[in-house]
Amino acid sequence: MEHHNLIDAPLAGSEPRAYGDALLERDAKLARDGEEIVVTGNALARDVAEDPQRFSSGVSRFLQLPNGLDGEEHTKVRSLIDAYLAPDQVDHLEPEFRRIARELAADAAARGTVDSVNDLGAQYAVRAMTTWLGWPAELDDTLVAWVADNNAATRSGELARTAEVAERFDAIIRSVVEPLQEHPDDSVTSRLVHDDSLGRRLEFDEVVSVLRNWTAGDLSSMAYCIGVVLDALIEHPELQDRLRQGVSRREFGAIADEILRADSPFVSNRRVTTCPVQLDGVDLPEGQRVRIHWTAANRDPDAFADADGFDPDANASGNLVWGAGPHACPGRALSIVELQALTEELLAVAELSRAGEGERETHPVGGWASLPVRLTARG
Ligand code: HEM
Repeated sequence: MEHHNLIDAPLAGSEPRAYGDALLERDAKLARDGEEIVVTGNALARDVAEDPQRFSSGVSRFLQLPNGLDGEEHTKVRSLIDAYLAPDQVDHLEPEFRRIARELAADAAARGTVDSVNDLGAQYAVRAMTTWLGWPAELDDTLVAWVADNNAATRSGELARTAEVAERFDAIIRSVVEPLQEHPDDSVTSRLVHDDSLGRRLEFDEVVSVLRNWTAGDLSSMAYCIGVVLDALIEHPELQDRLRQGVSRREFGAIADEILRADSPFVSNRRVTTCPVQLDGVDLPEGQRVRIHWTAANRDPDAFADADGFDPDANASGNLVWGAGPHACPGRALSIVELQALTEELLAVAELSRAGEGERETHPVGGWASLPVRLTARG
């Protein structure tokens, strides 16, 4: 069979969701973007993610725990991390998350309109995270400002800027971790600092790396997810009604997964081939940089009965919002508890509607850069 599957399609400046749509119209499951091969087909994305022997995650020269590890080394660090993020470790956080959400919801309802990403989303993501990790509340404002700078730096694509913002974040983490080395407390961060489940304590840089992956990624992704979820609730008022009736964690998770599938803000991850590989009939050399484009893969019409529709059950099997394979997101349970608490507390006090045009994000981030939402108090 002749393949038209590899086409030239630069990502820069494109809106990730639209980028996926454009490729799919041309029936392409792979695109070349400069030196990179971008995987946009759903089945192909899963194949790559589930084949770590041939598609290594060791793509960065920086220490990334566990993201940058492969094989046994990855399995070990991953099991250490999973012990903090398993559902039974995070479920008990719900009342605290609800308390934070209630405060923010009351404040937002009093103001009438809010930006669901930069204001509500960023505030909530930061406060939920510092509560979970046991970080001092004094850091909240610094971290909210950091999320905005980080998003702007990522958008700019300027290495010096992203490096400077990353360095600032490391300095914040260091300021939290250092005192805990001598004076442990009962926080999650302290548990991590003194964790010896690998048969040794983690090195200082390893602790920083783990925390960076939990926090830096989480803060921006969570704020973006909140934008996408609120947009869907505005588009589908019947969903607001359904969620107001109170749904189980399982049902909320399925709804959130399906909302995020249609507009996944966590756009892509990189891999590098460890040997020559044939992917969808295209020969790739060893050392080829490959980008798994989750946002496009989540909208592949060949993977869903109705890729543009809303059907949590029917579309679940092709859902790649949280990735696949050994690196699939360990933070889903925590994210869903956070999202459910915020969504339900908002809906308890207000009807949500649009308060003006939002602004879409472009590559390498997805979802909404900003999304003004109106909260009309419920009587
Ligand atoms: C808020 C929405 C989130 C989305 C959409 C998301 C999505 C993803 C995806 C697609 C991956 C796979 C990466 C790959 O294959 O290379 C991933 C990995 C990861 N996520 Fe998340 N994530 C979210 C939140 C979180 C949270 C809250 C945490 C932790 C507190 C977290 C921690 C991680 C870690 C540590 C990895 C790397 C896992 C590994 O390499 O084994 N994520 N995430």
